[in-house]
Amino acid sequence: MTVLETRADGDRRGPGGAEPVLRLRGISKSFGAVAALGGVDLDVRAGEVVAVVGDNGAGKSTLVKVLSGVHPPDAGTIERDGRQVQLGSPADARRLGIATVFQDLALCENLDVTANLFLGQELRPWALDDVGMEVRSWTLLRELSARLPTLGVPVSSLSGGQRQTVAIARTLLGDPRVIVLDEPTAALGVAQTAEVLNLVERLRDNGLAVIVISHNMEDVRAVADRICVLRLGRNNGDFAVDDVTNEQLVAAITGADDNAVSRRAERRAGAAPAAGAEPTTSPSTTTDQEVTP
Ligand SMILES: Nc1ncnc2c1ncn2[C@@H]1O[C@H](COP(=O)(O)OP(=O)(O)O)[C@@H](O)[C@H]1O
Ligand SMILES: [Mg+2]
Repeated sequence: MTVLETRADGDRRGPGGAEPVLRLRGISKSFGAVAALGGVDLDVRAGEVVAVVGDNGAGKSTLVKVLSGVHPPDAGTIERDGRQVQLGSPADARRLGIATVFQDLALCENLDVTANLFLGQELRPWALDDVGMEVRSWTLLRELSARLPTLGVPVSSLSGGQRQTVAIARTLLGDPRVIVLDEPTAALGVAQTAEVLNLVERLRDNGLAVIVISHNMEDVRAVADRICVLRLGRNNGDFAVDDVTNEQLVAAITGADDNAVSRRAERRAGAAPAAGAEPTTSPSTTTDQEVTP
C-alpha cells in the first residue's frame, strides 16, 4: 500500500467541523528584543489547505521553523490530533508527521531523482534495495501525477516545478499528516506554478493537512481553503477564501485599514452559530436584570 492510498483510506475528512490535525495557540518566539511571533493561533484540518500570508517580517518563516522543530517556541501550545506535543527538534516534527519543504528544497543537484527521494531514508540501509526504491519512486510520482522525464536524470537537469515535485514527494515517504510548503511557487514560471498548485490540490484530496506560505495572492486564492494573515508577528485575520476580497486581504496584510478588518472579524464572530449567543426575547421573560439564579 502506498503513502497516498493510506491517507485516502484513513483520515479523509472534509475541512468543515472536523477536529484540527494541528492546533497552535499563543505561539510566541523572540530573537533578542525582536518578537518575531507574538501569540499566534493556527488550525489546520485534514483535507484542508491553509495559506499563511503576510508582509516581509510578518513572521512566516519563523512560524515554518516552529512547525518544523527548528525553533522551539518560547510560549504557547501545539496539539497534534488534540494531544499536546513538543516540537523541540526537527526529529520531533518528523515523528509527529509534520513534514516541511523549505524554500531552498535541499536537494542534491548531482544525484538522480530516486537517490534524492530516498536520501537518508534508504529502504534497507544494510543492503540498498535499488529496485524497491525505484518502484516506490514511480508509484509515488504517478500518484502525484508528476511529470518527470525519467528517474535516472540528475536533479540539476530538472525544471523548478519538477524539483519542487521531487522535494514534496520525498517528504511523503515519511507518511506525514501535515505538510508545510514554504513559498512553493516563488521561483516558478506560469506553467510550473500551475503544476505545483495541482500537486498541492492532490495532497489535500488525499487527506493531508496542507499549510502553504506564500505572498502570491493569485496562487493563494487558486489553491487555499482558508487564508491566515500574519502581521508583525500576530494574527490579523482568518478568512474563508470564497468570502474575502483582495482589498480586504491587502488591508489585513498591510494594516492599512484596521477598522475594516476588525469590523469584518466582528461580523464573522457574530455569524458563528453559538448557542445562546443572541439574547432571545419571549413573552414569558421580562428583562435580564430580573432573572435571578
Ligand atoms: N534568526 C533570527 N534572528 C534575529 N531576528 C530574526 C531571526 N529570524 C527572524 N527574525 C526577525 O523576526 C521577524 C520575522 O521574520 P520572519 O519570520 O523571517 O518573517 P517573514 O518570513 O514573514 O518575512 C523579522 O523582524 C526578522 O528580522
Ligand atoms: Mg520569510
